[in-house]
Amino acid sequence: MPYYRQVGEIPRKRHVQFRDGGGTLRAEELMSSNGFSEESALLYHARPPTAITAAETVETEEERVHPNQPVLPRHFRLHELKSGGDPVTGRHLFLHNSDLRLSYVVAGETSPLYRDAVGDQLYYLESGRASLESVFGRLEAGAGDYVVVPTHTTHRWVVDEPEPVRMLVVEASGHVQVPQRYLSTRGQLKEGAPYSERDIRAPAEPLLVESEEEADVLVRPRAGFTRYRYAHHPFDVVGWDGCLYPWAFSIHDFEPIVGRLHQPPPVHQTFAGPNFVVCSFVPRLFDFDPEAVPVPYAHANVDSDEVIFYCGGDFMSRAGAGIGQGSASLHPSGFVHGPQPGSVERALGKPGTKELAVMVDTFRPLDLAQAALDVEDEDYAWTWARLG
Ligand SMILES: [Fe+2]
Repeated sequence: MPYYRQVGEIPRKRHVQFRDGGGTLRAEELMSSNGFSEESALLYHARPPTAITAAETVETEEERVHPNQPVLPRHFRLHELKSGGDPVTGRHLFLHNSDLRLSYVVAGETSPLYRDAVGDQLYYLESGRASLESVFGRLEAGAGDYVVVPTHTTHRWVVDEPEPVRMLVVEASGHVQVPQRYLSTRGQLKEGAPYSERDIRAPAEPLLVESEEEADVLVRPRAGFTRYRYAHHPFDVVGWDGCLYPWAFSIHDFEPIVGRLHQPPPVHQTFAGPNFVVCSFVPRLFDFDPEAVPVPYAHANVDSDEVIFYCGGDFMSRAGAGIGQGSASLHPSGFVHGPQPGSVERALGKPGTKELAVMVDTFRPLDLAQAALDVEDEDYAWTWARLG
């Protein structure tokens, strides 16, 4: 999130001597994006963040993926995926392309320390609570929260509630940003954007783990996984400042934009990623013209594949198609999709919708991972004809 924050203890100037009470120099780390040219943060460690004592390749199961052939609209019942594990290693990859990986996880355990070297992680919490602990501090998250974790942030998810946390996870191959059109030329969220700086939460104080033991960090580079062993626990940052840090934003703080007649999906845009966008469909009043058709028209996604994760309220435009809480639909380029038959008539005269859904539109086709095939509702593609 490109606005400035300062947390904990930092020196008066950048790149100057900064010592603890015993006179030991602290270690300054610059975490910067796009080759020192865009957002960055300066973090001050008690000990060098560079001290690794071992590294090993982590063997993982081969991921089997399948092209969406024949190209079809599809419905996956994500709640039928196996639950358990932690938010990092327990993820079920269900869709992916070269720009992003989409996973779902139902986690009851705390994750290992983790760092993604490929891109930003965008988490959406469908239910439950968890704490994101990172070198920047602690960030509490609950149902409805999006959490953006910048590339290279060493973090872990602490899950210590009786109820597991359900998460949709977008692993980007690059940075997840606030849409540029919402920002002034100098980076303030404009009046008229569907959320503002007041809706954004970030770590507010340092998180210091007192430990003299070595610590393992799981790293995802461009291929495979590596496990580093560090001489010291990485959570030893006494202060940081800058414009690059993990942040959270609740879908319930997204202010819907409505109109007299139907508003197109871009009014729901929440994030922009490399070759994808994320939109939030939240409870809202329907279009208010007496002759308005409040559910969408049939439409062709000429340049994108569309994934919708249904996470609350009613799903009026999909009635009768088997879609429910925890469903994800894939409407690929090449298929004209729209509301299931009967949806228009049911919506007429209704004051609004209570639907809650997260949409990910990708600009390159998505492949199906094994988890998608395991929980696919194979009747979905034929529901428009069956219900008509
Ligand atoms: Fe659509």
